[in-house]
Amino acid sequence: MSGPPAPSFEFVEPLRTERLVLRPMTLDDVDEVYAYQRRDDVCRYLLHEARSRDEVVEWVGKYAAATRLAEEHDWIEPAIVVDGRVIGHMYLTIASLENRGAEIGWTLHPDFQGKGYAHEAAVAMLDLAFGELGMHRVRAELDPRNDASIALCRRLGMREEAYFVKDLMFRGDWADTGVYAILDEEWAARGAAADAE
Ligand SMILES: CC(C)(COP(=O)(O)OP(=O)(O)OC[C@H]1O[C@@H](n2cnc3c(N)ncnc32)[C@H](O)[C@@H]1OP(=O)(O)O)[C@@H](O)C(=O)NCCC(=O)NCCS
Repeated sequence: MSGPPAPSFEFVEPLRTERLVLRPMTLDDVDEVYAYQRRDDVCRYLLHEARSRDEVVEWVGKYAAATRLAEEHDWIEPAIVVDGRVIGHMYLTIASLENRGAEIGWTLHPDFQGKGYAHEAAVAMLDLAFGELGMHRVRAELDPRNDASIALCRRLGMREEAYFVKDLMFRGDWADTGVYAILDEEWAARGAAADAE
């Protein structure tokens, strides 16, 4: 197989942006993650429903253990931290090694939405995906009713690539799926355009 070497990323050091720290979760984050995962409004379009505190304890344990991106289906779920508080998290997984495809996701506590924090965290994740990980394409899969998530995809320069009709059994009913994506060369061109401004 030609192309860049296989990805090998250990999520140990926090990633820093202008306003955010993205770092591995720890069990100390349970209360702050529960503050948003317990909410129906946050989970409306997520594959999981609002979680109990015990469920959040279990999931934060899984997030904390997921620190490696090297093999297909490896994933990380970084905490998004503002002023020492976990306000949400990102998701990044290697969907295909052969096709160098990754998938991204995002969740914020409602008190911290509308401030550009998800966008800022997503830029850091895309920089990681297309930089150190050498990915070729990053996609986001979402519920087409999720306007906020679609707006974020568009702000990142992701294009709508697919619209699957009633392909998902979602809480007892068929639901649609939208797929948005961006390529490495497109991400690089956006970076070059931003640098020129
Ligand atoms: C999807 C989700 C992460 C988007 O969060 P968000 O805060 O709207 O997204 P962004 O970080 O891109 O912020 C954009 C908003 O911040 C505003 N903003 C304020 N300051 C800003 C800044 N410095 N930079 C950029 N945007 C800024 C923008 O104008 C925009 O406002 P608008 O929504 O009124 O147009 C959030 O709605 C969410 O967590 N939803 C619940 C979970 C979910 O459904 N996840 C997606 C599953 S696919």
